[in-house]
Amino acid sequence: MSVLITGIGELTTNSEVTGDALVIDGAEIAWVGNVGDAPAADERVDVEGRAVLPGWVDSHTHLVFAGDRTAEFGARMAGKPYTAGGIAVTVNATRAATDEELAAVVRKHIAEALRQGTTFIETKTGYGLNVADEVRSARIAAEEADEVTFLGAHLVPPGEDADTYVDLVRGEMLDAVAPLVRWADVFCEKGAFDYDQSKAVLQAAAAKGLGLRVHGNQLGEGPGVRLAVELGAASVDHCTYLSAADIDALASSDTVATLLPACDLSTRQSLPPARALLDAGATVALASNCNPGSSYTSSMAFCVTTAVLQMRMSVEEAVWAATAGGAQALRRTDVGVIRPGARADLHVLDAPSITHLAYRPGVPLTHSVWRQGERTN
Ligand code: NIG
Repeated sequence: MSVLITGIGELTTNSEVTGDALVIDGAEIAWVGNVGDAPAADERVDVEGRAVLPGWVDSHTHLVFAGDRTAEFGARMAGKPYTAGGIAVTVNATRAATDEELAAVVRKHIAEALRQGTTFIETKTGYGLNVADEVRSARIAAEEADEVTFLGAHLVPPGEDADTYVDLVRGEMLDAVAPLVRWADVFCEKGAFDYDQSKAVLQAAAAKGLGLRVHGNQLGEGPGVRLAVELGAASVDHCTYLSAADIDALASSDTVATLLPACDLSTRQSLPPARALLDAGATVALASNCNPGSSYTSSMAFCVTTAVLQMRMSVEEAVWAATAGGAQALRRTDVGVIRPGARADLHVLDAPSITHLAYRPGVPLTHSVWRQGERTN
C-alpha cells in the first residue's frame, strides 16, 4: 500500500532531500520531491499547505510506574525542593502493581504521546529496584516501547547498603535484565550514585554489550557529564548544571546532551544552558522525561516551545533536537528524518510552518500522524 502526500506547505526533512510531496510505501518513505515528479501511488492525501516534519523522537521517559505523586508536586510548588527521594514512593507503588496494571500505564502514555506526534519512544526500568521487579519492568517496556533502558541504578532502595546494592545491580540484576534491553543508565548525582559506583555499573553493562546513557548534572554540578564522555555514552541526560569544562567535554565528544526542560520547570530548577552547548558545538537533543515525579508530561511540543522561548534555541534547532537529536541520542539513523528508506513516521501540523510551535505556545497543533506508514490520527 503506497500513499502520495501532496500540498506540503513546509517540509522539514533533517536530510538533504527537499520538496512539497512524498510517498510512503509500507512502513517506509519511498520518495521525496516536487509533486510534478511524483511516482504513482495507491492513495493520495492533500495536506493543504500544512507543515510536515518527522515524528518526535522522545529519547528519555520513565513509563513503567504505578501510583501518583500529585501531593509531592503540590508541595514543590509551595516551595519544597525536589530531591531524588521521591523515586522511592513510585518504587513502592510499582512493586505492588500487577503486570497488567503496569502495561496499561505504559500503553496509555505511549498512546497519549502518539496523539501529539511522538512516533518513537524510549522508556526505562528504574522503579523496580530488585531483580524480579526490574526484570518485569524491562519485559513490559520491551513489549510496548521502541527502545528500552535498564536503570537499576536509579536510587539505592531505602534501608539498603549502597555498595551491596551496586554489586547486585552490576551482577545478578544486570545478568537477568540484559537480554531484554539495549541500553543501561545510571543516576549519577548526589543522593543517588557517585562517580565510582556509576562507573562500576556502566562498565559491567558495557561488558555485556549494552549501550550506555547517564542521568547527570540534574540537581547540581557533578561528575555525570565527565563520566558519560569518558565512557563514550550515547547520551547524558538533564545537563541542567554544567561547568565550562563539561560543555567543552561534550562539544568534543559523540555524547549527546539531552535536555529535559519540562523536568527543570516542574522541579523549579534553572533551564539548561542550551545556547552555550550549541555555540560550543555540542549535539543537543530534547526529550520529555515523562515520569510521575519530576516531569509528568508527554508533550514534546511543550519542550520545543520552552526551548525556543526560554532557552534561546531557534525553532529549527529545537525541532531538530526533538527529532534527529533524539535519534542520535539513541544511535538511530532510521527515525527523526524524512528521506527515502527512513521509517515513515510523519507529523503534520495544523499550521503552515514549524515556527508556529513557538509562535502559538500551548495550542495543540498536531493535525495528523503516520507511524511506520500507518495513519494513527
Ligand atoms: O529523570 N533523575 C532521576 N530520575 C527521574 C526522576 C524520577 C522521579 O522523580 O520519579 C528524572 O527526573
